[in-house]
Amino acid sequence: MTTDKLGIIVNGATGRMGYRQHLVRSLLALRDEGGIPLSDGTRRPIELYLVARNEERLRELAAKHDIEKFTTDLDVALADEDFPVYFDALITRLRVPAIRKAIAAGKAIYTEKPTAESYADALALAEEAEAAGVKNGVVHDKLYLPGLIKLRRLIESGFFGEILSVRGEFGYWVFEGDWQPAQRPSWNYRSEDGGGIVVDMFPHWNYVIENLFGEISSVYAETRTHIPERFDEAGKSYTATADDAAYAIFDLADGPIVQFNSSWTVRVNRDELVEIHVDGTHGSAVVGLFGAKVQPRNVTPKPTWNPDLRDDHDYSADWIEVPQNDAVDNGFKLQWIEFLRYVLDDGEHNYDFRSGAKGMLLAEAALESNASGRRVSLAEQAGEK
Ligand SMILES: NC(=O)c1ccc[n+]([C@@H]2O[C@H](COP(=O)([O-])OP(=O)(O)OC[C@H]3O[C@@H](n4cnc5c(N)ncnc54)[C@H](O)[C@@H]3O)[C@@H](O)[C@H]2O)c1
Repeated sequence: MTTDKLGIIVNGATGRMGYRQHLVRSLLALRDEGGIPLSDGTRRPIELYLVARNEERLRELAAKHDIEKFTTDLDVALADEDFPVYFDALITRLRVPAIRKAIAAGKAIYTEKPTAESYADALALAEEAEAAGVKNGVVHDKLYLPGLIKLRRLIESGFFGEILSVRGEFGYWVFEGDWQPAQRPSWNYRSEDGGGIVVDMFPHWNYVIENLFGEISSVYAETRTHIPERFDEAGKSYTATADDAAYAIFDLADGPIVQFNSSWTVRVNRDELVEIHVDGTHGSAVVGLFGAKVQPRNVTPKPTWNPDLRDDHDYSADWIEVPQNDAVDNGFKLQWIEFLRYVLDDGEHNYDFRSGAKGMLLAEAALESNASGRRVSLAEQAGEK
């Protein structure tokens, strides 16, 4: 295989996700390890081209991480034929036009989710990429997390018997931004800027659920904007127009009942910021980003309901920690390796723009369910577009 460097354009390199997860933890880590590990045991070196709107910040980042190329002009980067891969970590609202340019430039494209602000746009983008014959992929990072890898192993080993129900609890308190700065960007709380917890998290829930438990057939959701006023990065008050919490039930075509609470307005009383509780006929599991604990049916305690008597049984002590067994690398980096190997014709990558569009379909169906008060079928929602 060639030892030429594979050039990767990173757009939105200064953002929260673009910088931390994609640049530092994934691409710079890969570059410093010698490149993309290939199936023949060799490595293909990579070179990065940073794009963002703030030139000063770009210059700083490039110098700090020893990156030669950077620009504030996406067209300039896309015109560079030494960089055949485009990555997009822009704010969601800017994604479609940027990716359209990358398709026109014939780049292989990898992007943060969601791929677009609407299912119609996400589907159109998938069709355009396919028609142009460019390889494409969407971040599905949660599937690569140690806890979810353990959950997949439990499912594949038959641990649960028949899975009856799944309950997901995701969330934490995001500060309003007045007396303490908010820990998420303000656009997340403005629907006119592509914000909202449904649009942010349901694309994740879609691929997590469909890859682990089965295809989602319909959704019932209630969304709320619990905190109506927040304060932006400059400390200025703004009206929160987007949902900051969503309470949803997903029906699977052939599988368990799944419910997820997603909220930026809850205080954490869990081991991790997301927990998925799975109950099956033969055993149960509680899984987070990293940890997983199980309770098989043959060690299940036998509680009896008696409000007159204090129950001193320590229920949390009945669970067994699932061992890690193998070292697991950063989830974003693992998926980057898979995507880049696919670009180099050295393996498969299953999560393309179509898969991303399905995530947006679920988000739209959930918003429609909230607006109409009905359970919404995904097939029906897709048909309307
Ligand atoms: N996979 C995940 O777990 C995950 C988590 C959070 C966010 N995301 C997604 O990642 C993307 C980026 O989110 P983020 O939280 O990093 O956002 P962010 O606001 O921190 O960064 C976004 C980037 O877009 C740039 N940008 C913003 N406005 C711009 C403008 N008007 N013109 C040009 N560039 C502009 C910013 O400079 C920055 O580089 C979003 O699509 C979001 O949905 C994914």
